[in-house]
Amino acid sequence: CALNIVEVASVHGPSAPRHFVAVYDDLFIPGLKELTDAIHDAGGKASLQLWQGGLAASFDEQCQILLPSPMPISAEYTIPAATVEQIEEIVACYGEATRRAVEAGFDSLEVHGAHNYMFHSFLSPGFNHRTDEYGGSVENRYRFPLAVLKAVRDNMPEGMPLFMRIGAHDDFLENGLSIEEVIDFCKRAMEMGVDVLDVSRGNIVTAAIQFEVPPIDLPRGFNIENAARIRKETGCLTMGVGRINDPEFAEALLANDKIDLVGMGRAQLADAAFCLKAERGEVDDIRRCIGCNQGCYDGFADKSRPHITCLMNPAVGREAECMLKVTDAPKTVLIAGGGPAGLEAALLLHERGHKPILCEMSDRLGGQFLLAGEAPRKLEMKEAVLAMGAQAIRVGVDVRMKTKVTPELIESIKPDVVINAIGAKPIILPVPGSDLPNVADSHDVLDGRVRPEGHVIVIGGGLVGLEAAEYLCAKGCKVTIVEMLDEIGADLGDIRKVSVLGNIHGACIDVKTKTKVIEITGNAVRVEHEGQTEDLACDYAVIAVGAKPRDGKDLEEACKRLGIDWYVIGDALEARRAINAIYEANEVARAI
Ligand SMILES: Cc1cc2nc3c(=O)[nH]c(=O)nc-3n(C[C@H](O)[C@H](O)[C@H](O)COP(=O)(O)O)c2cc1C
Ligand code: SF4
Repeated sequence: CALNIVEVASVHGPSAPRHFVAVYDDLFIPGLKELTDAIHDAGGKASLQLWQGGLAASFDEQCQILLPSPMPISAEYTIPAATVEQIEEIVACYGEATRRAVEAGFDSLEVHGAHNYMFHSFLSPGFNHRTDEYGGSVENRYRFPLAVLKAVRDNMPEGMPLFMRIGAHDDFLENGLSIEEVIDFCKRAMEMGVDVLDVSRGNIVTAAIQFEVPPIDLPRGFNIENAARIRKETGCLTMGVGRINDPEFAEALLANDKIDLVGMGRAQLADAAFCLKAERGEVDDIRRCIGCNQGCYDGFADKSRPHITCLMNPAVGREAECMLKVTDAPKTVLIAGGGPAGLEAALLLHERGHKPILCEMSDRLGGQFLLAGEAPRKLEMKEAVLAMGAQAIRVGVDVRMKTKVTPELIESIKPDVVINAIGAKPIILPVPGSDLPNVADSHDVLDGRVRPEGHVIVIGGGLVGLEAAEYLCAKGCKVTIVEMLDEIGADLGDIRKVSVLGNIHGACIDVKTKTKVIEITGNAVRVEHEGQTEDLACDYAVIAVGAKPRDGKDLEEACKRLGIDWYVIGDALEARRAINAIYEANEVARAI
């Protein structure tokens, strides 16, 4: 079902990053044909993005970089502007790539005209400072992109739909494209044969990168009003994209006449069966993308990772390995802890035919995701884990609330396996004064058990500290973050960091880096900064310096004594990111 737009495919060999999809040579046709066959066999239509990456080709240091204007990258070296011959060569490459894509069986094609790749870079006066026939006036800046569209259209069969991905406007870019100019260009592109506008946003050189792969910090469908305006003023069929992770929301965008097509990227990583479930009305069973970017964008940006994955769906990138295997030897598996890791294990074990018993000490399923969901803009994390909990109950997992797993419980149930997913607890800062009554840990604050007022110093500028700081700021506190490292948000991925730090600065939260806490007194936090000691006056101190695994030794010993298999997953093993916890839960639930 649906149109599957395959990612960017390099049209030009010397600037094609390794490990990217490529269409610059006939030798790629058989592989691409295999891909289109697979899409067609599954009942879908296939499209391919034709692409020359411009600056993004620098992802692979061996690639040629083609830019409209010179770009100094060090005192010694400036990347030169593309020559007219190179520009003409690229236009010809687009034409040839189109021929190959058509031969490979694609039903439609998309020219990538956004995200400051070569097409966008020539179009935008923010990047294009040329003074020849490819720069300066509007007509000159349009020349290369329109030539690309013509080369593509000329090589497509009659009636095959041509999409163009376009940024609604430039952000954070001096002299960048306005939406009015984008609309004007789209009209010219339609004359060249573009049938559908795919309206995205962002570039890779400024904070606008957050609009390319929008994190949870941006509202769902944040760019739709732009798409709707472009659609209205061009009269072109228009696709909207960006944080559309819910079928009902998607339907509403169509029903409200905002857009004609809905583009969904990460929603389908988080749940590969998203469209099927939506079609069947099994909306509650959809695993929602939470915009964390931990597995997808961060996985792409980190070259040491073999492939992308997904926090909510650890099977991404290794689907064959993770194919569901129903067990022929069902086991009783006692799971201690109803956070995301415990829930993932319970759901998968149940699906495989085992008998999981999920015990949660508190009266709520969800663990750390519930806390994270209290931070500004992160409600969807809470909703996602609540949905997992509701699903566990719906499918019939034996869920026992307010039940602490103890050696006695293990002895009475006599399970075949015990999984320790009891999570972590906050580290108490080892400095004098951390036990004072006006000192709390971030968990107690986010959970609402402690309500600081006045001037609060948050000790620790990692993700949890930043969330606590924003939370307190939203509650009316004056907040200062004290961080030992030389930056805050060091544990955040690139894109979330841009958004979160933007919000921290926007909220006027004071930040002190390279600052070590040495003592907390009744009304101040004593710190050391570059060899100087200083007392920072405050009404409250909130500690967010990390977490350590909860003690599960008594459970482990009981299992050993009773000959029961024992696994430890997630923060109970070592406090890390949520993606590790769910991944490990999935691994263990597949191994049992
Ligand atoms: C891992 C990853 C790879 C992506 N690759 C491409 C790409 O090749 N071409 C493109 O136009 N957008 C790409 N995007 C951006 C998506 O197409 C989409 O515009 C963006 O993720 C926002 O939509 P979503 O919220 O539905 O994911 C990528 C995003 C991710 C997370
Ligand atoms: S890793 Fe996070 S942002 Fe990426 S697809 Fe999965 S849930 Fe969505």
